[in-house]
Amino acid sequence: MCAETTHLAADPAGIKAAAAILAEGGLVAFPTETVYGLGADARNNLAVARIFEAKGRPRFNPLIVHVADVAAARLLVEWSDTADRLAQAFWPGPLTLVLPLKSNTGLSPLVTAELPTLAVRMPAHLVARDLLSEFGGPLAAPSANPSGRISPTAAAHVATGLSGRIEAILDGGTCDVGVESTILGLWSQPILLRPGGLPTGVIEAALGAPLAHRESNEPLSAPGQMASHYAPGAHVRLNVTEPRADELYLGFGPMTCTLNLSQAGDLTEAAANLFAHLHRLDDMATGGIAVAPIPETGLGLAINDRLCRAAAPRF
Ligand code: TXA
Ligand code: MG
Repeated sequence: MCAETTHLAADPAGIKAAAAILAEGGLVAFPTETVYGLGADARNNLAVARIFEAKGRPRFNPLIVHVADVAAARLLVEWSDTADRLAQAFWPGPLTLVLPLKSNTGLSPLVTAELPTLAVRMPAHLVARDLLSEFGGPLAAPSANPSGRISPTAAAHVATGLSGRIEAILDGGTCDVGVESTILGLWSQPILLRPGGLPTGVIEAALGAPLAHRESNEPLSAPGQMASHYAPGAHVRLNVTEPRADELYLGFGPMTCTLNLSQAGDLTEAAANLFAHLHRLDDMATGGIAVAPIPETGLGLAINDRLCRAAAPRF
């Protein structure tokens, strides 16, 4: 717990201050191209423990480690040809690779939640990259929201959810992609663990083969796949073409609605707007939120995945 959260501008002085806070074991929210991450030194057990505390995140849910480059990733995981091909094609960018964890990495064991694998990602956002190089080590960073709630795509979202629980927020404006990274398991055949900001079709084209998908009866290998997640306070209904009078309507394509994900029906624009629109509707909602149908292609997979979890029954 810390009394006050400092707001830092994403300029050289702010980035330097953020890196110094991280080096002392503090928590700093920082922008990535997908969503804001809640960063801590991945080698500092106490700092990583405080991520779980600040978010109210279950300890069995492992964290993604953010690295400055491929060389830094290779220090932590058993790299492979497939990993190399994907990193060449898509890093820096919204793709997380899960690979076997090396021994004696110096990482806090809390990062992996006892799994034999580690999720690594090299973000593309310039502020994230500057912060990683200024800090000079691996940063554990889940999305910077209270566990189970809507992910943050602006510094103000982070402040609403986590003010007083973290040392600082590095304000780098709004996140371009707007949904979290695509997560692939690479311990055997490449398997899609979470659809995200990099469409699966693009990955399959680079691999020259289709990705495996998780069977619905398999145990959760990415606990973010728990049904209820990204949950606004208001009740959410999906695939609605005629909202009820007491509902706010989240639209897609040309239509009359409360807020539109993309008037032009563009999925990239819709992904970028998704969480910000859900945050705004949740603030306004007295009844429920109804959502227009979103096509299940390209980024639509990641958008529908998040919407299904927002609409799932709460436990
Ligand atoms: O775009 C993103 O990925 C953002 C930004 C901040 O980088 N991060 C993010 O982190 O979405 P988080 O913690 O909200 O989601 C990470 C997901 C979780 O569902 C977690 O279970 C999964 O990654 N994960 C982490 N390590 C894993 C592992 N070793 N095996 C399988 N899943 C893993
Ligand atoms: Mg998250």
